[in-house]
Amino acid sequence: MIKTDVLIIGSGVAGLTTALKLAAERPDLKITVLTKTNKQESNTSYAQGGIAAVWNFDIDSYEKHIADTLDAGDGFCDEKIVEIVVKEGPTRVKEIIEWGTRFDKDHDNKEEYDLGREGGHSENRILHYKDLTGWEIQRTLLEKAKESPNIELHEHFFAIDLITQHHLGYTLSRLTPDIECYGAYVLDKNKDDIDMILAKVTVVATGGAGQVYRNTTNPVIATGDGIAMVYRAKGRLENMEYVQFHPTALYNPAGENPDFLVSEAVRGEGAILKTKEGEEFMQNYDERGSLAPRDIVARAIDNEMKVRGDDYLCLDCRHLDEADFKAHFPTIYEKCMSLGINPMKDLIPVVPACHYICGGIRTDEVGRTSINHLYACGECTCTGLHGANRLASNSLLEGLVFAHRIHLDILNVIDNIEIKEGIPEWNADSTTDPKEMVLITQSWKELKEIMSSYVGIVRSNVRLKRALDRLMLLYNETDQLYMTTTLSPQLCELRNLITIAYLISRSAAMRKESRGLHYTTDYPKKLPFRDLSIL
Ligand code: FAD
Ligand code: SIN
Repeated sequence: MIKTDVLIIGSGVAGLTTALKLAAERPDLKITVLTKTNKQESNTSYAQGGIAAVWNFDIDSYEKHIADTLDAGDGFCDEKIVEIVVKEGPTRVKEIIEWGTRFDKDHDNKEEYDLGREGGHSENRILHYKDLTGWEIQRTLLEKAKESPNIELHEHFFAIDLITQHHLGYTLSRLTPDIECYGAYVLDKNKDDIDMILAKVTVVATGGAGQVYRNTTNPVIATGDGIAMVYRAKGRLENMEYVQFHPTALYNPAGENPDFLVSEAVRGEGAILKTKEGEEFMQNYDERGSLAPRDIVARAIDNEMKVRGDDYLCLDCRHLDEADFKAHFPTIYEKCMSLGINPMKDLIPVVPACHYICGGIRTDEVGRTSINHLYACGECTCTGLHGANRLASNSLLEGLVFAHRIHLDILNVIDNIEIKEGIPEWNADSTTDPKEMVLITQSWKELKEIMSSYVGIVRSNVRLKRALDRLMLLYNETDQLYMTTTLSPQLCELRNLITIAYLISRSAAMRKESRGLHYTTDYPKKLPFRDLSIL
């Protein structure tokens, strides 16, 4: 058993920033950070385009960034939260610059940052480090965490479930008031043992769930564990139907997991979406063309692929300056070249891929969940910022802003919370080692097929019903395995992904309209009122 003041599950931008801020303010607190594989592997590390923040007040303003975020969110953003994130964002970005994060400077004026543009933004406001912004932020945060003596970072520690009154024998439901979190049961892969970590407060910062689809830009760790854990603990979730597909993942006929992203910043620099034959098509869908918000562009590409019977569409970068392209997008350039595509001479083949989950654990303006002593931060949350569709490069910003707010709230309450006594150890009686790994891997493949075929960019009542029926079968089979075999990360991840798939499909079936990222052929119009999907 481990006892700690603060347990943070996840070491991406959300988890590490929360940990660093708490550690700096309260060197007397023990802060335990868990990461399920190695500490570098997170969605954060893969972020390419950058971080959106109002920077040049001569051309930009908070009002413009707020308006762009609300417009992308299609009427479903929480305006108060949008204002908080946009207005506090620049200060939080300055903090990580002080901690050592590098952002590219302007070619002509080295005193100023080079501000990029992405879909849905009315001004250039994206700070970036080449096409490796997330990697640079992750590097900074990890280096700083290493210097903080009161942060203990455990790699290969896989959180299985949150501990609540349920583990003391009480029956809880989603209507039970005052559910409390006491920490988590965790599979320590270094010892192959299940530990109990008891904490005064717990922060879930477990990132996204892109691995629920066949094609995704998310790394293999993105299996929605935190969202599924909070759902099992009877916490409140919201907006799970809003799954963002990035319009331009690199089409690779050999298949790869994750799919490689061709950043929207490439379109921000002037690249244009075209058919294989070199015809532009985005003007037929939105006057902003290739830089319309993501939901519109992804749906347009999906439609063009279906109408034309093509496996991919293309991004034309041939008119862009070669030296600038190589300097801003070295990773994208190298990746294309490795597949025999020269972005300066050839069209880049692209397809939409699952990229970001806008819904998740419902939190308030200081990151509190519906469960006492449990906070959530980052992509696993639904703060109200993104509404029905996230504006590009607002996610890293959300992580920074909410990490700050969560740390302030924890500082206010932590001295009045005691670590809970009398929690039982994990019960692994009557379980055996899994005999056939194929039972897990095959179910995982089936799950991805179900979600990609029936709960993708375009949905319908019939498709959603098919998905839900098939998911029920997978759920029952996997639950049986879970009850009888020794736990492995793969089995836990499968179980979590089935929960995520169910939550997405169920929320989608409940929404009788098309809005933002949720489009259904049965209800193609928007409802005139706001109807939240709460689970
Ligand atoms: P993550 O960074 O994903 O971190 C999750 C952490 O939780 C990991 O450390 C993981 O190991 C840990 N974890 C998960 N489950 C468990 C468990 N069961 N037990 C223990 N630990 C666990 N956003 C932008 O704003 N700008 C961009 O340019 C941008 N580009 C992107 C490009 C790509 C290819 C991708 C995939 C995403 C991009 N995003 C971008 C989105 C953004 O990167 C993420 O939303 C954000 O980084 C999420 O941060 P996070 O801290 O919430 O989660
Ligand atoms: C990208 O670089 O296109 C991704 C940006 C984002 O997801 O915010």
